[in-house]
Amino acid sequence: MSETKVLIELRDVAKHYQKGSEVVKAIDRINLEVQERGMAAIVGPSGSGKSTLLHLIGAMDRPTRGEVIVAGKTLNGIAGKDLTRFRCRTVGFVFQTFNLIPNLTALENVMLPMEFNGVPKVERLRRGKALLGQVGLGHRLRHRPNELSGGEMQRVAIARALANNPPLILADEPTGNLDSQAGQMIYELLKEISRERTVLVVTHAEALAQMADRVLHIGDGRLKDNA
Ligand SMILES: Nc1ncnc2c1ncn2[C@@H]1O[C@H](COP(=O)(O)OP(=O)(O)OP(=O)(O)O)[C@@H](O)[C@H]1O
Ligand SMILES: [Mg+2]
Repeated sequence: MSETKVLIELRDVAKHYQKGSEVVKAIDRINLEVQERGMAAIVGPSGSGKSTLLHLIGAMDRPTRGEVIVAGKTLNGIAGKDLTRFRCRTVGFVFQTFNLIPNLTALENVMLPMEFNGVPKVERLRRGKALLGQVGLGHRLRHRPNELSGGEMQRVAIARALANNPPLILADEPTGNLDSQAGQMIYELLKEISRERTVLVVTHAEALAQMADRVLHIGDGRLKDNA
């Protein structure tokens, strides 16, 4: 029996920014449910609220109104140890600009989130190597970011996001700085990892959106045809 469970739930969520006398409704009363596992693409023009939405779901930001519930946890008031634990174990982030630590090797970059999670060094090493192998970089363990191509850096970032085996990966335009061939590899990797977890990916790339199981169109802070 395969029962699908809801991993992400947004109830009447808004995020407003005060800009002088003007209120910017970055997110304007969104309701959304996303199930466990599978890939959902978030598509919309610049300034439509895509990054804001990811930040609310990843507890990097708090809503002005409404509730954000991820993996059974209401994020609105989450703070301190609970927030640290949530960031560490529940969500992995992938950024357009990779955000690797420049003076650490690929392997050390992947091991770092496990250190924050209290994983012993032997296990960090084992899992770090296995993850880099899984993303096709078993031969680049000791390379630093500036010794890697853009596509390779993004694969390291994906391995790092998977380090603590989170049920959710949030990726904000992960192929935005890559050529189409490297981008294609990243899409395939994200699709593959979405078999075991939820991948929520912001993209302008039509090809990536077409690979997703679900496409969420956002405009002016609102979801359209909420499929
Ligand atoms: N800290 C902030 N203060 C004020 N306004 C903000 C802030 N962050 C975002 N906004 C505004 O909220 C709206 C949504 O921004 P957001 O970054 O979510 O858009 P986006 O869809 O990710 O755009 P892009 O495709 O360009 O990355 C924009 O109008 C933006 O100017
Ligand atoms: Mg953005």
